[in-house]
Amino acid sequence: MSKTRIAFIGAGNMAASLIGGLLAKGVQAAQIRACDPGAETRAKVTAEHGIEVFADNAQAIQDADVIVIAVKPQAMKAVCLDLRQHLKPHQLLVSVAAGITSASLLNWVGQQPLVRCMPNTPALLGKGVSGLFATDAVTAEQRQQADELLSAVGIVVWVETEAQIDAVTAVSGSGPAYFFLLIEAMTDAGVKLGLPREVAEQLAQHTSLGAAHMAVSSGIDAAELRRRVTSPAGTTEAAIKSFQADGFEAIVEKALSAAAHRSAEMAEQLGQ
Ligand SMILES: NC(=O)c1ccc[n+]([C@@H]2O[C@H](COP(=O)([O-])OP(=O)(O)OC[C@H]3O[C@@H](n4cnc5c(N)ncnc54)[C@H](OP(=O)(O)O)[C@@H]3O)[C@@H](O)[C@H]2O)c1
Repeated sequence: MSKTRIAFIGAGNMAASLIGGLLAKGVQAAQIRACDPGAETRAKVTAEHGIEVFADNAQAIQDADVIVIAVKPQAMKAVCLDLRQHLKPHQLLVSVAAGITSASLLNWVGQQPLVRCMPNTPALLGKGVSGLFATDAVTAEQRQQADELLSAVGIVVWVETEAQIDAVTAVSGSGPAYFFLLIEAMTDAGVKLGLPREVAEQLAQHTSLGAAHMAVSSGIDAAELRRRVTSPAGTTEAAIKSFQADGFEAIVEKALSAAAHRSAEMAEQLGQ
């Protein structure tokens, strides 16, 4: 990325996180430009990150090697149609918009190398995980550029087929909310068992954080980690047996299928 010039279309939450992450990784402010219709947003991003921010998309993308489209999915079509006349064939487009397929994007912008990404909310803290899909026109160098770009806000995984982006959406895109739900439910259960709410909440939050750290850093798969903390006839076993008797795995599978299905459905609607 030492010479890559990057332009952001839309300078909201996701763009600002990526910009902050790139600068922290040593990309120079002069390599980055952004564009946003909001005067306040432009002033904020310039003040926070020291990059040039424009009101006009065409100005922002001039000379860019990589153009990151970071507007809301509903604004994507208008933005792409507007960009079309200003794009140069070698410019890599990176879309972080949820639910907009490469077919729709290429229909709007014309033939262009394109990487479609599905980041998740913890990216705003640099702790995200993003699924990336590259279209055929993307070169190895551009793939590397997209990888380094999204790595600025977390972990990157590549998928081979675009349909897998719906599965990524179901697992990690929507995933943070599942953990929030579990934290909520564990907090409520802790309160019912007699703990003050703040105490139950802290216990639930930090248990999820600690368990995630163990799952990520131990090199041991989750099933084995679970077995190791589940002594026969112990307290954990009592809870796990209760979860499984109530069909925990099936509940999770059904919920993720619903998310993947909705992702495909939304792609169809937003692509119109
Ligand atoms: N935030 C997340 O955690 C997250 C996670 C996964 C994926 N994403 C994806 O990231 C994208 C951006 O999300 P976000 O949370 O960063 O949204 P956001 O904070 O609303 O930022 C989008 C920015 O784009 C601006 N914009 C609107 N129309 C524009 C145009 N024609 N040209 C240039 N800029 C324009 C908006 O300005 P106005 O507000 O004035 O319209 C806003 O400042 C979405 O597609 C979303 O699906 C976000």
